[in-house]
Amino acid sequence: MAGNWKMCKTPGETRSFLEKFIPAVAGVSDCDIVICPPFVDLPAAVEAARNTNVAIGGQNLHWESKDGAFTGEISGRMLKEAGAQWVIIGHSERRQYFHETDELVYKRTVAALAAGLKPIVCVGEMLKERESGQTHWVLERQFNHGIAKLAPEQFAQIVIAYEPVWAIGTGRTATPDIAADAHRFIRGQAVEKFGSGDVRILYGGSVKPDNIKGLMAQEEIDGVLVGGASLDPDSFATICFASSSSASH
Ligand code: PGA
Repeated sequence: MAGNWKMCKTPGETRSFLEKFIPAVAGVSDCDIVICPPFVDLPAAVEAARNTNVAIGGQNLHWESKDGAFTGEISGRMLKEAGAQWVIIGHSERRQYFHETDELVYKRTVAALAAGLKPIVCVGEMLKERESGQTHWVLERQFNHGIAKLAPEQFAQIVIAYEPVWAIGTGRTATPDIAADAHRFIRGQAVEKFGSGDVRILYGGSVKPDNIKGLMAQEEIDGVLVGGASLDPDSFATICFASSSSASH
């Protein structure tokens, strides 16, 4: 269960969130809980989450591992030393607004793994692509040009997030069936390219406390990547409990 805070919350707001959120999810077991705040919030988040069941991640990283002349960028080494364990790569907002390509997604994934971070690699189609029946084609292209270039031992360490762009921040969640169909297709790609569909696939796009149960009831959906609803400690805690077998909320 991963929260993507995007460009929301200051360090002070991060501390306030975690003061409420960490005790609220202390009883969640059997799943990873990850919060990905903006870079400047990482020290506050890592400090507050130390020795808890909440891990912290970045929202992006540069593909160069060595320090260098890349103004405004952050390397995997920096994230790792700051205490991040995870990193989101290839989010559709980065693909749309910051010209992220499948090739860059691949390079960033390799850099994340080299730094010892666990990548959450995002894929997903735009509304016009879904409406024109190109969903599988887009997912296949994103998989082939990005994820499929990893070595099998690299692929074994990533988590994939299926995030249909038309569902992100729109309140228009994919139905559990639509999401499961895309997950099945992505898992099929993994079987084709790596001989194994043993990869965690998260769904992302307007996940809320009131639709989480239906999504998690799908066998194909292993977890969720949550934007808006991860900004409120109660709502994200409710979402986290929905995948926990040992507790109720
Ligand atoms: P949303 O965002 O939950 O606000 O739709 C999801 C995401 O962008 O990861």
